[in-house]
Amino acid sequence: MSGNTFGTTLRITTFGESHGDALGVVIDGLESGFSIDMDHLFRQMQRRRPGGNPLGTKRQEPDAIEIVSGIFQGKTTGTPIAIIIRNTNQRSGDYDDISKLYRPGHADHTWQQKFGIRDWRGGGRSSGRETAARLAAGAIAMQVLSQKGIDIQAYAIQIGTVVAEARDYSIIGTNRVSAPDAAAAIQMEELIEKVREDNDSVGGIIECRITGLPAGLGEPVFDKVEALLGHAILSIGATKGIEFGDGFSVASRLGSENNDQMDSNGFLSNHAGGMNGGITNGDTLLFRTAVKPTASIGRPQKTIDIGGNEQTIVVEGRHDPCICVRIIPVVEAMAAITLLSLWYEQYGR
Ligand SMILES: Cc1cc2nc3c(=O)[nH]c(=O)nc-3n(C[C@H](O)[C@H](O)[C@H](O)COP(=O)(O)O)c2cc1C
Repeated sequence: MSGNTFGTTLRITTFGESHGDALGVVIDGLESGFSIDMDHLFRQMQRRRPGGNPLGTKRQEPDAIEIVSGIFQGKTTGTPIAIIIRNTNQRSGDYDDISKLYRPGHADHTWQQKFGIRDWRGGGRSSGRETAARLAAGAIAMQVLSQKGIDIQAYAIQIGTVVAEARDYSIIGTNRVSAPDAAAAIQMEELIEKVREDNDSVGGIIECRITGLPAGLGEPVFDKVEALLGHAILSIGATKGIEFGDGFSVASRLGSENNDQMDSNGFLSNHAGGMNGGITNGDTLLFRTAVKPTASIGRPQKTIDIGGNEQTIVVEGRHDPCICVRIIPVVEAMAAITLLSLWYEQYGR
């Protein structure tokens, strides 16, 4: 298996499975002399961790961080930083039933086809649990970017059919779905509770807004900023699309409507989402990603077993009725790793 490493100048490699002993990440290329804020790191891990949100999975994992290399006297040394996150609350027995059945919508069937063997306990490495390791690396990258005046904030703008119309960024941390619209947040929470009671799941859209970026990040032609962000975000399990700025809606516009005109004070609009020609233009960078409904649901569905026989599956276990909410900090983390890598390419470490 390859594909466990992401990034260029700043690079992360993650390892581990959902129900193995531990997960982790090696961060290669971070600058030296940086003091990691462990309180911030802890808070970021809390936002994603299983059991951290009453709307999510009932699996309880503390997601405690052990940094085992790359730090001396409280500062990064510029050598690889290795982080371990131990698994403590595995209930692999929950997955006995699916050891021979393929969950519709999950990675079981394709992983079996590709590798001929799979760790079916909790989905093994195809589990969303893998993203705990990315989050640890991304939280550190966010701290470095924050010192450069760059702020990354992701939030839910749609859960199922409930759409956030308002953009009040100050209330995102005050509701359980991280939405910028108080009225929509209540309806989103109700919808998630309802689909949980129905043994079903629901998807959503996450928007990510990055402020404080200088003009000039991005390496055309293959490493355009949107190409790298697309790679970063679409590598998160269950994300199914990404759009930048006004996204797909630009297709129906005229050029005169869509161009971001300029005067001596700067851009007069931001349809492009903060980039042109694969390079940040100094305006707010904006993108959205679509997250599908959780594949594992407690409803009878048709599938086949590893012998190819038709079967009915009901997925037991502790699954999120809406993984969109837990993916929000992972989106921030992957955006941070991508942009810090591009920063280092432009300005060095
Ligand atoms: C943070 C996070 C948590 C997830 N939790 C679950 C889950 O509880 N149940 C599930 O079926 N899928 C979950 N997923 C999604 C699966 O990992 C993903 O759907 C699966 O690997 C198949 O990949 P694909 O959807 O990209 O095709 C989660 C993903 C993330 C990022």
